[in-house]
Amino acid sequence: MARRRMIYEGKAKVLFEGPEPGTLVQYFKDDATAFNNKKKGTITGKGVLNNRISEYLMNRLNEIGVPTHFIRRLNMREQLVREVEIIPIEVVIRNVAAGSIATRFGIAEGTPLPRSIVEYYYKNDELNDPMVSEEHITAFGWATIQEIDEIIALSLRINDYLSGLFLGIGIKLVDFKLEFGRLWHESGDMQIVLADEISPDNCRLWDAKTNEKLDKDRFRRDMGNVEGAYQEVARRLGILPEA
Ligand code: C5P
Repeated sequence: MARRRMIYEGKAKVLFEGPEPGTLVQYFKDDATAFNNKKKGTITGKGVLNNRISEYLMNRLNEIGVPTHFIRRLNMREQLVREVEIIPIEVVIRNVAAGSIATRFGIAEGTPLPRSIVEYYYKNDELNDPMVSEEHITAFGWATIQEIDEIIALSLRINDYLSGLFLGIGIKLVDFKLEFGRLWHESGDMQIVLADEISPDNCRLWDAKTNEKLDKDRFRRDMGNVEGAYQEVARRLGILPEA
């Protein structure tokens, strides 16, 4: 088979041209980075697990009517997705204080937040993904106010749904990061859809009883057993790939 054209290589994924116009193939690598590339490593089997976990969560979200770029999983490490115009904003939704919000405001990690908080970061590695406000987003033309309203509404729906889904398998959804894109329909209509992936790489997932970390913080903080934690999430979701 002819080598497919690579469109983009990110830290944990590669995007290739898809089989039909308007599609892309998203390939999941085992590479892991943290602190904006300052820490690098490999988590054996991570790509396979994240491909499966993200497939499962995107399918559940599609079922409840959340539009996503996901079409179908192709194999162990690849999935077919719709080509979208990525909005250069990382949307972080937080339910419990951890990571940067705990540091920024001096809140003890694990403290429940008074309500879910949505934050925006400008996707730019050279600038270390600075936190931005709606004012910055609209003034610099990264998204319109209508698009931001749609993104907030979708993010809160996703948070409600995923918080319940994870709680059902004994996991607390502490916080997570989403990316959105513009999907252009042939009619000329534009739709905001969920893009990228949802996996333990971009969520904080804690065991509901013990608060044991089942996510990338195990890699960031050198806690060991990173693959085991990702496997545990897949196992509880009922999708652990057969050995
Ligand atoms: O580091 P911080 O506390 O701001 O991260 C909040 C959430 O967003 C975490 O779940 C983290 O995994 C995710 N995140 C991400 N990609 C980034 C920054 C944060 O997936 N570039």
